[in-house]
Amino acid sequence: MKKLFWLALAVLVASGAVAQQATRLRVFIGGQQRPDVMRKILDAYQQRNPGVRVEIEVGGATSDQQQQYLTTVLASRDPSIDVILIDVIRPAQYAAAKWSDTLDKYLPAASRANLLKQYLPAYAKANVINGQLIALPSFADAQFLYYRKDLLEKYNLKPPTTWDEAIKQAQTILAGERNPNLNGIGFMGNISEGTVCSFLLPIWAAGGDVDDDSGKLILTEAQARNSLQFWLDLMDKHKVSPPNMAEKAQDTIRQEMQAGRWVFGTLFAYAWNRFQNDADSQVKGKIGVVPLPRFEGGRSASCLGGWQWTISDFSKNKAQAYKLVRYLSSPEVSKVLAIEASNLPVFPSLYKDPDVLKANPWFADALPVVQAARARPVHPRYPEVADVMRKALNAVLARTKTPEAAAKEVIGGLQAIYGK
Ligand code: GLC
Repeated sequence: MKKLFWLALAVLVASGAVAQQATRLRVFIGGQQRPDVMRKILDAYQQRNPGVRVEIEVGGATSDQQQQYLTTVLASRDPSIDVILIDVIRPAQYAAAKWSDTLDKYLPAASRANLLKQYLPAYAKANVINGQLIALPSFADAQFLYYRKDLLEKYNLKPPTTWDEAIKQAQTILAGERNPNLNGIGFMGNISEGTVCSFLLPIWAAGGDVDDDSGKLILTEAQARNSLQFWLDLMDKHKVSPPNMAEKAQDTIRQEMQAGRWVFGTLFAYAWNRFQNDADSQVKGKIGVVPLPRFEGGRSASCLGGWQWTISDFSKNKAQAYKLVRYLSSPEVSKVLAIEASNLPVFPSLYKDPDVLKANPWFADALPVVQAARARPVHPRYPEVADVMRKALNAVLARTKTPEAAAKEVIGGLQAIYGK
């Protein structure tokens, strides 16, 4: 009898049933995606699910730095990360590399359709690649024009609706302020993902794009050249951006604007919360947000951003990871992210939520901007596509290439990836 007891106990211990050890999940979140706020969200989850412990691994500050690291981890089939917060541009690459545990097996067709229709269509679309559900949305994003309300008011100016206006206003304010630490128009120009958005904005505004719905390359050399020239002119011709724009990543502009050093910044939504709440912010209450300006004769275009939760196909805790991802992509969490991090909701109704609007009054007008925002190319070799574009703009801003030469290289580089 005694023997039998010990035997049964040994079996139970070996199967883990006695130890009742908590499942440990590791979640990867980029440094700019507010791991501090995510921690609070995960703490709430742990409280409701005492059998689960969730650790955060904090990744690099830019989307491309994060992906570089993740590519190494995933290519070596490392099981240490269970859930990953990925940029909206990544699902096609994850699908092609088979890095994601596709979510279809947890969601029969009808429940999948029901679930997806609750999100903004752009995100439901971005996460389904060749019919497979790769990830679920965390938060939406788009580029906006942030401006110094106090300075525009001082010079009797209304927020600009065209780039020509923005340039003139920046010139007026810089001339009037005579502050050597103040700059005019901030945009992304270093070799990082944000610079891809800079490159694409003038192309979209002029009615162009990189590829069409069938995936055919349609960008022309003239469109590429005009875009490169536009950003170069802000420095050299209009003198509203300083000569070192080739060094500026998105969060550099955010930090500098927070220190009071920009009149205008083309930034994504997270910047708002930092401007309003960071202890070191010099611009609390002094910032306004409007859609990006139009180009003369063109339309306003914004770059669609946003972040998604995917489960690593190498995770050893997929079922628990799925439960966590459902929570992280729920309306409840979307609301917390909106209030605590000014992350744009992926659920349309939250744009009217009084608590969300109290923290972010400008969200009242943000939904149409997100809905009209343009998606960067969806391509399994997206990192290479992006590299061609961001390197071209960076080289022009660093003055190592002319817009003409760089535009030729963009087309050649993209043709090599897309096939002629
Ligand atoms: C924001 C966007 C993301 C974009 C990045 C570029 O985080 O949400 O989609 O790639 O900015 O800096």
